[in-house]
Amino acid sequence: TESNQFCNAGIEYGESSCGVSSSSSKILIKGGTVVNAHREEVADVYVEDGIIVAVKPNIKVGDDVTMLDATGKFVMPGGIDPHTHLAFEFMGTETVDDFFSGQAAALAGGTTMHIDFVIPVSGSLTAGFEAYEKKAKKSCMDYGFHMAITKWDEVVSKEVEIMVKEKGINSFKFFLAYKGALMINDELLLEGFKKCKSLGALAMVHAENGDAVYEGQKRMIELGIFGPEGHALSRPSLLEAEATARAIRLAGFVNTPLYVVHVMSIDAMEEIATARRKGQRVIGEPVVSGLALDESGVWDPDFVTAAKFVMSPPIRASGHDKALQAALSTGILQLVGTDHCSFNSTQKALGIDDFRNIPNGVNGIEERMHLVWDIMVESGQISVTDYVRITSTECARIFNIYPRKGAILPGSDADIIIFNPNSSFEITAKSHHSRSDTNVYEGRRGKGKVEVTIAGGRIVWENDELKVVPGSGKYVEMPPFAYLFNGIDKADAEYLSSHRAPVKRFKSTD
Ligand code: URP
Ligand code: ZN
Ligand code: ZN
Ligand code: ZN
Repeated sequence: TESNQFCNAGIEYGESSCGVSSSSSKILIKGGTVVNAHREEVADVYVEDGIIVAVKPNIKVGDDVTMLDATGKFVMPGGIDPHTHLAFEFMGTETVDDFFSGQAAALAGGTTMHIDFVIPVSGSLTAGFEAYEKKAKKSCMDYGFHMAITKWDEVVSKEVEIMVKEKGINSFKFFLAYKGALMINDELLLEGFKKCKSLGALAMVHAENGDAVYEGQKRMIELGIFGPEGHALSRPSLLEAEATARAIRLAGFVNTPLYVVHVMSIDAMEEIATARRKGQRVIGEPVVSGLALDESGVWDPDFVTAAKFVMSPPIRASGHDKALQAALSTGILQLVGTDHCSFNSTQKALGIDDFRNIPNGVNGIEERMHLVWDIMVESGQISVTDYVRITSTECARIFNIYPRKGAILPGSDADIIIFNPNSSFEITAKSHHSRSDTNVYEGRRGKGKVEVTIAGGRIVWENDELKVVPGSGKYVEMPPFAYLFNGIDKADAEYLSSHRAPVKRFKSTD
C-alpha cells in the first residue's frame, strides 16, 4: 500500500486506497456519558449511515451493528478547528501538511472538521476557490472554507457575493499584517466590512499593525539581531492591541460582527473584553500555542528548536498564556483554534540567517483536543460541557452549521469521539501524524485520551490506529446570517432614527 500517493508512514488506509474494509455503517456506542454544550447525560448513541439516529439509555439493536463500550468515558462531538492552513503556499514555500495528512492528524487527535483559509490567487477569489477545491479533493474528513481578501475592486466585490450566495462561504479574513504580501489598508477593511455586513458574512481579522511590524523588523536588523528571538522582539503585543482596537472600532462604526483570529496577548484580549462589555459583537479566538506555550521557545540557543516556535502574532511572554486561559474560562474569548500551519525544519531553515525569512506557523491540529482538555478541564478551569462548547459547538454556531455539527443529537452528523479521562497522552514528533519532523509540543504529557474517533459515521481512529479514506471528507457549505447577525438591522434602524435628517439652517442675513 505504500505506493499509494496518499500513504504516510504509520497510517492505515481505508477501503478505497488499500483494500482494508471500513467498519459497518451501523454503530452503537454503549454506556458512556454523552456530553453536549447544553447538558451531559448517561446514554447510548446509535449511528446509521453517517447520521446520529438516537441518543437515549438502553438502545437495543441487531447483531449487524458494531458495538463500542464507552462505560466510564465521555462521548462528545468531534472537535471543529476553526483555523487551519493546509497546503498553504506562504513565505516562499508550502506547508508540509496537506488536506490529507493534516486531516489524518486531526482525526488521530479527535478533531473531525476544520475550517481552512482559501487564499486568493493574485487577488482573485474565484481562482483561489478553484485552487482550494482541488487541494481538498483528497480530504478524509469534513471541512469548510473561510476566504482571505487581499485586494479590492468591482470584480472582488462581486466575487464576495458569489462566494456567499453560491459557494458556501460565510466568513472573510482581512490581514492587517504581512506588509507587501497579504496586508490590506483601512480603506479596504471598511469596504470589506460593509460588503460582509450586507451579505451576512462574518469579517475576521489578523490583527497586527503591519507597517509598524515592518519598522520593528528593521530595528532588529539594525541592532544586529538576526535570530528567531528577533521575531518576537520586532512585533510586541502593543502592535497586536493597536490593530485589534482599530478593527474593533471600525467594525463598530460599520455595525457588523467581528471575529479576531489568533488572540495572543493580554493587550489584545482586553480590547475584546472592553468592546464586549459595551455590547459590541466581537468574537475572540485564542489558539492552542497561545494557551500552552510562552516566548521562551524562540530564545532557545538551538536554531531548529527556536524556529519552530515562530508564528504571527508571536507567542508571548509567560503570563499571557494564563491570562488567555482565564479569558476563555470566563467567556471573554469563546472558542479555540490552532492556526495549524506546519513547516518542517528544512523549511524553517530558510530563515537561518534572518528571522524575517522563517516561514511563520506552528502545528496543533492533532494536539488541540488533548491540550485544551489538560490545560482547561484537568486544571479545573472549565466544565466538560464548556470543553465541548469551546472545542466544537461554539464554532458550529458562529459559522452557522449547528446542530448538524457540534452536537450529539438525533439528526446530527456522526462526528463523535470517545474520550477516556483516566488515560493519558504524550506528544512527540516520532509518533504524531503530521508530516513535519518537529512538534512545538514535543515531550508534553497530560491526562485524558481520545480513544476512538468517528467521522461521518466511520470509525477512523481506534487502538492508536488510523483508518482513513482519501476523498471521504465532504465540503460543508456554511450559510450566511448566523446568530451574530440577529438584531443587527434593529441597531441600524436605531442609529438612523437618532441621526434622522439634516438640521435646517438659515443664512444669518435672512
Ligand atoms: O504564523 C502564522 N499565523 N501563520 C499562518 C498565517 C496566519 O497569519 O494565520
Ligand atoms: Zn498504505
Ligand atoms: Zn493570521
Ligand atoms: Zn492563520
